[in-house]
Amino acid sequence: MENPRANVAVQRRRRKGRGVVLFPLPLQGHINPMLQLANLLYSKGFSITILHTHFNSPISSNHSNFTFHSIPDGLSESEASTDDILAFLTLLNVNCVSPFRDCLAKLLSDSPQEDQPIACIITDAVWHFTQAVADTFNLPRIVLRTSNVSSFLVFAGLSLLREQGYLPIQEEAVPNLPPLKVKDIAVIDTRNPEDFYGLISSMVKEIKGSSGLIWNSVEELEQSEMIKLGQDFPIPLFTIGPFHSYFPASSSSLLTQDQSCLSWLNTRAPKSVLYVSFGSLAKFNETEFKEIAWGLANSNQHFLWVIRPGLARGSEWLETLPDGFLEMVGERGHIVKWAPQQEVLAHPATGGFWTHNGWNSTLESICEGVPMICSPCFGDQKVNARYVSHVWKIGVHLENRMERVEIDKGIKKLFVETEGEEMRQRIMHLKEKVDLSLRQGGSSHQALESLINYISSF
Ligand code: UDX
Repeated sequence: MENPRANVAVQRRRRKGRGVVLFPLPLQGHINPMLQLANLLYSKGFSITILHTHFNSPISSNHSNFTFHSIPDGLSESEASTDDILAFLTLLNVNCVSPFRDCLAKLLSDSPQEDQPIACIITDAVWHFTQAVADTFNLPRIVLRTSNVSSFLVFAGLSLLREQGYLPIQEEAVPNLPPLKVKDIAVIDTRNPEDFYGLISSMVKEIKGSSGLIWNSVEELEQSEMIKLGQDFPIPLFTIGPFHSYFPASSSSLLTQDQSCLSWLNTRAPKSVLYVSFGSLAKFNETEFKEIAWGLANSNQHFLWVIRPGLARGSEWLETLPDGFLEMVGERGHIVKWAPQQEVLAHPATGGFWTHNGWNSTLESICEGVPMICSPCFGDQKVNARYVSHVWKIGVHLENRMERVEIDKGIKKLFVETEGEEMRQRIMHLKEKVDLSLRQGGSSHQALESLINYISSF
């Protein structure tokens, strides 16, 4: 029900023209939550300015209420690639310093002195350089960490684990962070491993100096981790997710979502389809890609597979599929380049999600009560997958390399065996908890109110 007092507060904020400047990292999994947060703040009466790089710039026409400013990212044609994601992010954190500072200076000088309209900036945690810029303008910076608390704690403890000799990767348990194994620790292939430690330690250090930290997560999912975080990061923390429950990702999608899969799903029996998608960045070599295809073909399960161009490294689209694959699976399988993922997960025919466990995908799956098969690739995905399989027990972890027999077994476990049914029940229970957190008095609802009051107080 509408709360008349809240409406008055929204109107008052709109009249005062309080503004928030947001700066998303130019990757799909980071743009979606930042723009969802922007929508949320707009609905609470703040005016919204989005700064963004030329690379992967958001589609501004989908957000007519926001003001967009593009800043030059200085990337050459060969550098504008996410193949070595660490090198890419490290370079962006250098290239964007001056353009970001200049753009912010202009925005501040254009605003009337007596009624400072910019309350604060909200920037992605990976944009660590923005803290120093905010400090020079005496402007509060709030950080958005688009992943979850559990994986962040691993990042935050990385240098200690390194000093103690736990890295490089081993099978052992991570001290103080059960049930994680050292092999779950964020690894990212990069030409220069020092980039990885450098980026993470700058991100963690600058978060500590920020005015607050927003999480696209839910307290009930990571209670003990939240307590630990509060001890290590004594700054205001706002756990207000899941953002996509307020505003879907479709308007911030960089690729066109192929709606044909929804009519295909309409022809399928309830909970009979495995949805397969590995997000916007993961890539597989030819052998792995072919094993995925054989696993799907052998499983006899109906499936909807998102094959992003380039998912098979070096390929245009489908040419790496095994010969005869499409004929073999026939109507049992449907392939698209990019799907309306939230609608797919919410569709009654979807019974399972084989995922790379990017945090957005994991959270979207929990919110629709769809159990998972986990094939994490890099970064936070390994921690997310461990939580899905070992903490929440709502998914099957394919622990080893992509291999058709293991894939087929995993699919059967989820769709045919009792274990899969138990996971389905557990994820429905978790979904209810998440739903409750968003209602009046729920943890995310309350945290959002606190965030709004906090920003209004600047
Ligand atoms: C990246 C990292 O890989 C991930 O580990 C981190 O948590 C966030 O940044 P990405 O790989 O793209 O993200 O995965 P994910 O976090 O799952 O985000 C993908 C987004 O794209 C989701 O919101 C999903 O709904 C959307 N999507 C995905 C589509 O709209 N269509 C698709 O076909 C696939």
